[in-house]
Amino acid sequence: MSTESPAGTEPVLRLREVDIDRDEIPVVRGVSLDVAPGAVTVLLGANGAGKTTLMDGIAGLVRTTAGTIELAGRPVQKLPVYKRARAGVGYVEQARTTFRTLTVEQNLLVARAGAGDPDQVYRLFPELARRRTLQAGHLSGGEQQMLVLGRALVTDPKVVLVDEMSLGLAPLIVRRLMRVVGELAAAGLAVLLIEQFANLALDVGTHAYVLRKGRIVHDGPCADLRGRHELLHEYYFGSTTPDRAGPEPADHACDPHPLDTPIGGGTR
Ligand SMILES: Nc1ncnc2c1ncn2[C@@H]1O[C@H](COP(=O)(O)OP(=O)(O)O)[C@@H](O)[C@H]1O
Ligand SMILES: [Mg+2]
Repeated sequence: MSTESPAGTEPVLRLREVDIDRDEIPVVRGVSLDVAPGAVTVLLGANGAGKTTLMDGIAGLVRTTAGTIELAGRPVQKLPVYKRARAGVGYVEQARTTFRTLTVEQNLLVARAGAGDPDQVYRLFPELARRRTLQAGHLSGGEQQMLVLGRALVTDPKVVLVDEMSLGLAPLIVRRLMRVVGELAAAGLAVLLIEQFANLALDVGTHAYVLRKGRIVHDGPCADLRGRHELLHEYYFGSTTPDRAGPEPADHACDPHPLDTPIGGGTR
């Protein structure tokens, strides 16, 4: 396990030997990872590997039973969720939705809590600026996800945890969102990205970790994994014989240029 930050700079987020249980069942074991500023760090793994549980543990939604979580050099593993958010952990939760009866602008202002700037979000997503007075419930799926990401950004986070933004979205929108995630990192933010379309994540990412049954089984540059489906399959499932590439998600089934197939199937 490397102790050097992936991008060669001091990591914003540093986990060491973290354990997390769910209902007293071990789900995450001995996880150490670094998330550097100015880069996208990718967290891959099959369904049920413990990726979401790990992010929940970082954000403080579940308790860690061992190990340390440092944010900008300060241990936060004992802090309640709101204090971690205030300290700079932004979390785009899997399947998170907007406040549907509030307008786009109200959604951003509610999340902002004094810091951050909705205009920054409008610059990233001009379609949200055009719809700022519209109730969020009337947005398209892609725009909703942009708003969910925007709500994490207006808290002015040091690190953003992004869990499977692509769920149920059209390929074009997913690529757009990935591009924005890349731009955010290029602007200096630290991003930890979970994405079932591994190759999309590896394209935008710098460093990758693969989680299998709650443990890190691979820790290295994204470049080492790009296009290497068999290797990824081995890391995901511990075997070198891919049975099949996994089901095509329904939303992408008719697309003539489908995104990379999620290894081992998606969560939808
Ligand atoms: N809220 C929960 N309560 C109990 N068990 C859970 C809960 N969430 C997830 N788990 C269990 O933890 C394991 C890891 O799940 P999860 O972290 O969602 O994995 P992933 O995000 O990699 O698909 C699974 O066995 C799942 O059933
Ligand atoms: Mg998950």
